[in-house]
Amino acid sequence: MKKLIVANWKMNPMSLASAKLIFNALEKGAKKFSKQSEVVVCSPAVYLFSLAGKQIKLGGQNMFYEDSGAFTGEISPAMLKNSKCQYVIIGHSERRGYFNETDETVNKKIKGAIAHKITPILCVGETASEKKQGKTKEVLKRQVLAALKAVPQKKVKTSGLCVAYEPRWAIGTGDACPTTEAQTIKILLEKIIAQKYSRPLSQKMRFLYGGSVNGDNAQDFIQEAKFQGLLIGGASLKPAEFIRIIKKAV
Ligand code: 13P
Repeated sequence: MKKLIVANWKMNPMSLASAKLIFNALEKGAKKFSKQSEVVVCSPAVYLFSLAGKQIKLGGQNMFYEDSGAFTGEISPAMLKNSKCQYVIIGHSERRGYFNETDETVNKKIKGAIAHKITPILCVGETASEKKQGKTKEVLKRQVLAALKAVPQKKVKTSGLCVAYEPRWAIGTGDACPTTEAQTIKILLEKIIAQKYSRPLSQKMRFLYGGSVNGDNAQDFIQEAKFQGLLIGGASLKPAEFIRIIKKAV
């Protein structure tokens, strides 16, 4: 299975010229690892149409679930699809934390992405205070099951849906989740999927880790914690560091 390495640029960079510069550097660097990795850049929507590569696929960072209509400021699944996006991040903790994303809207968005043949990257993760209260497992189970409510196994399978574990406290803090802890969570997520759907599906699904990934720790999440991919924020804007991550991950 190829490792899925996803760049989440978030609200960066500030201009199309910078976006192209970073994208082209990533494109060039990723070429060497194209047999062992699938690389996706989730850029701000305004740049999507202007970015194109052979190695790197495109993804959205968020979307609304309706196809079109009077929803000022929103981007529909069809629009992402028409902008050549093959992936979309759904339920990122920054959306949940700052923009009132709920388990219910995440569920609608997952269904919307699948209906338009866009592969959803479903993000789940507990906050620091939930972790402190010992609620991690409960929160993850709730988030996964709510996101996949009334989504049939066949659709999950054909869409290639991935689940990304991004503990909120590890995002942008430089404080990545310890490997053994991440491994326990990976096993838990597999179990949740196996119980809801089946073991074969959980074995085929790609689970990603995200939260302060860098060139020094990337290998641990893949080799030791057994994740099939990584979701990278800050380091994905630094081409040399991002390529080092890919190299360590494959
Ligand atoms: P950082 O890699 O900057 O911690 O961000 C992780 C993230 O939120 C990716 O979606």
